[in-house]
Amino acid sequence: MRLDKLLCNLGVASRSACRDILKAGRVQVNGTVWKDGSKNVPEGAYLSLDGKRLDTRLSRHLMLYKPQGVLTAAEDHKQKTVMDLLPSCYTALGCMPVGRLDKDTTGILILTTDGELAHRLIGPKFHVDKVYEARVEGLLEEADILAFAEGLPLKDFTALPAKLEIIAPDTGRLTVQEGKYHQVKRMFGARGKPVIALHRLSFGPILLDKELSPGMFRELTGEEAAALYRAAGMEPNE
Ligand code: URA
Repeated sequence: MRLDKLLCNLGVASRSACRDILKAGRVQVNGTVWKDGSKNVPEGAYLSLDGKRLDTRLSRHLMLYKPQGVLTAAEDHKQKTVMDLLPSCYTALGCMPVGRLDKDTTGILILTTDGELAHRLIGPKFHVDKVYEARVEGLLEEADILAFAEGLPLKDFTALPAKLEIIAPDTGRLTVQEGKYHQVKRMFGARGKPVIALHRLSFGPILLDKELSPGMFRELTGEEAAALYRAAGMEPNE
């Protein structure tokens, strides 16, 4: 890829600002100053800006501990979104949330720059497990476990069979493979037990990191990213 395009894609600056950065001799490729942005950067080259190494991976995958009160959206003119919780370089790289959590739902949200990966992870073809902890009004019982396991008829569709474990009289851990709008809330609601609090513990093979507090994020490790690609039936692309 051309150096100016690569710098821009890496979120360093806009195309024109990158030209100025290059002209000023601030970029080195494999230890040599490159001022000409039209030159192609060799595969695996060591890039630095002002002497600091640039991370040249184009695909980035993050886990965010989504706090309450924040929208899962790329942008919103009035309300705070999950993108407001990330440094702007991730937005510049095109990082987008994979699926949605409701404004009041907390827990793991995956964000990626890889549109194909995101598309597959939320599509119906690959059944990716999502585990939620739900506190409900009322008491959970064996009949709820059976109803969820059979596939619960809702107003406009029948939910795929889901696994419910009762971990406290009013709290269940539910594993679902779909991600329809308000799905978990609607499933418990259909049993006459409205959800009071909802938290997502895992998304596919990725568990919410216990070291993260609400509002914090980290990049996925190489192994986590590879597991996510496998869950989507893809080869890791780096
Ligand atoms: N199901 C819901 O009802 N809400 C969420 O945020 C996620 C799954």
